[in-house]
Parts: sequence; C-alpha cells; structure tokens
Amino acid sequence: MTDTISLSGVGRTYTRGKKEVQALTGVDLTIRQGEFITLFGPSGCGKSTLLRLIAGLDTQTTGEISVFGSTPKKASASKDIAWIPQSSALLPWLDIKANASLSSVINKRADRSGSTTRSPEDAVGVLSEVGLADFLGSRPDQLSGGMRQRASIARGFAQGAPLMLMDEPFSALDELTRDTLRIRLLELWEHHKKTIVFVTHSAQEAVLLSDRVVVMSPRPGRIKEVVDVDLPRPRTWELTETPEFTAKVAEVKQILWSAWEGDE
Ligand SMILES: Nc1ncnc2c1ncn2[C@@H]1O[C@H](COP(=O)(O)OP(=O)(O)OP(=O)(O)O)[C@@H](O)[C@H]1O
Ligand SMILES: [Mg+2]
Repeated sequence: MTDTISLSGVGRTYTRGKKEVQALTGVDLTIRQGEFITLFGPSGCGKSTLLRLIAGLDTQTTGEISVFGSTPKKASASKDIAWIPQSSALLPWLDIKANASLSSVINKRADRSGSTTRSPEDAVGVLSEVGLADFLGSRPDQLSGGMRQRASIARGFAQGAPLMLMDEPFSALDELTRDTLRIRLLELWEHHKKTIVFVTHSAQEAVLLSDRVVVMSPRPGRIKEVVDVDLPRPRTWELTETPEFTAKVAEVKQILWSAWEGDE
C-alpha cells in the first residue's frame, strides 16, 4: 500500500501573549491510502490542531508532514484534500445541487485514480447516495440539520479529492440522525475509496468507523496508542451488539483513561 500521509516529530505550540501553549508534541504517524483512521481523545488534546496541520490550514512548529509526497499546503492547493467541518458550510443562496457541484466546477480534473472527471452529475449521484435526490432544488435553510450535513458530506465526496478530513462532522446532530449517517458515511467510503481522517470524542463511533483508532492524550497533546480495529466489514448496526465490538470499545476507552491517569 502507498503511504498517503506521513507525520514525523510533529509539534505545534501556540503563543498567547507571553504564555506558550504546547498543543501537540512528537506526533509520528503514517496513514495508508484508502484507510479510515480516527483521531480520538478528550477535549483539548489537539485533535483539531492535528487535522488542521494535515489540511495545510495551519503550520507545525516542529517536525515534517507529507501529504501525497508534497506539503499539506501544496496538496490542498491542488484540491487533493476535502475538508468537512462540524456544521455544514453550505452557501445559503445556492440550492444543494449547486452547492455540491461548486467545487467540482473549480476542480474539473482527473482524480488520483486517473480516470474520473468530476461534473455536476457526480454531485447529483452522491446527493442521491445520501438520500437527497428529491431535494436538489432546496436551499440549505429549507433542509433539516441532518439533511444539511448530508449535503455537506456529499459535497466533500463530489469534490473528487482523494483525502477527506472530517472534524466531528456528526456532533451537532441528534443521536438517531448520527447513527444513520455513520453507516451512510461507511457506504460512501467503501464506494468511493477515499482516505478519511476523522475526529471524534466517541469511542463507539471511532470503533464502528475505523481501520485504526489513534488514541490521544492531553497536555501536551500526543499519541498514546494506535489501536487496530480488526472487526469485519461492511460494518452494520448488528455488529455494535456483539461482544467483539463492545470489547474493542472498552479497550480504546481503557487506553484513554490510562492516558488521563498518567497525566496526573
Ligand atoms: N489558535 C489557537 N491559539 C491558541 N491556543 C490554541 C489555538 N487552537 C488551539 N489551541 C489550544 O491547543 C490545545 C488543543 O486544541 P484543539 O482545538 O486541537 O483540541 P481538540 O482535541 O480538537 O479539542 P475539542 O475536542 O474540544 O475540539 C488546547 O489547549 C487549545 O486551547
Ligand atoms: Mg476539536
């Protein structure tokens, strides 16, 4: 497998007046092409900071980051990275078909698989995959929060970027919608063969979605352990009822708690 992203000795220190906040330190991680990997940890452990560094939205203070053999900023400029925020960032004056097609207009190019050229039809296809085929002409304010987030995710997939970065994309949604969208996201990922780096506070969500869970610990943020999730795919709701799933969630939580204890 080709390495998609590699981080070596990555740290980020913020300066607040005279005070320095070490948000991240000594992060070494290699993410494989096509992998679903999750950054999991408590509030303030540097998950968003790490994701922003990979996205090229911020620059590390120490260490190196390579995205497809390039810098994150260059990979981002060549539209190789799609960013899906916590709440949908759709343009309010455009309908969702136009919203989802927007980046494909800017980004009319062969994707990394070398074959597909993105077009508004791709956007319609992905919107249908997330169950929004009947709402193509609706503006964001005419949709529910869950539908907006589905449209936002569809836009990310329609962009054709091989790498998707998602920072707690479901955290503002109710539990039922969240449960449905997790499975929808897995279906999209399996169909479109992206590499996904996903941030969450939820051990269940991390285990359900991921090939590997990166458990982080705070002050300063660092990787505590990377856990392989060797549960079968495709993942379904039935899986969450099994002892294997429960045991994996417990394992991930245990690592998190031991990180907290070690911190005191
Ligand atoms: N722009 C900034 N300026 C100063 N400090 C910052 C900045 N961004 C983040 N920090 C600090 O860096 C640390 C990590 O923040 P970060 O947002 O990455 O955490 P997180 O794991 O995403 O938390 P949450 O789960 O609450 O979203 C925190 O102590 C935060 O206060
Ligand atoms: Mg965050």
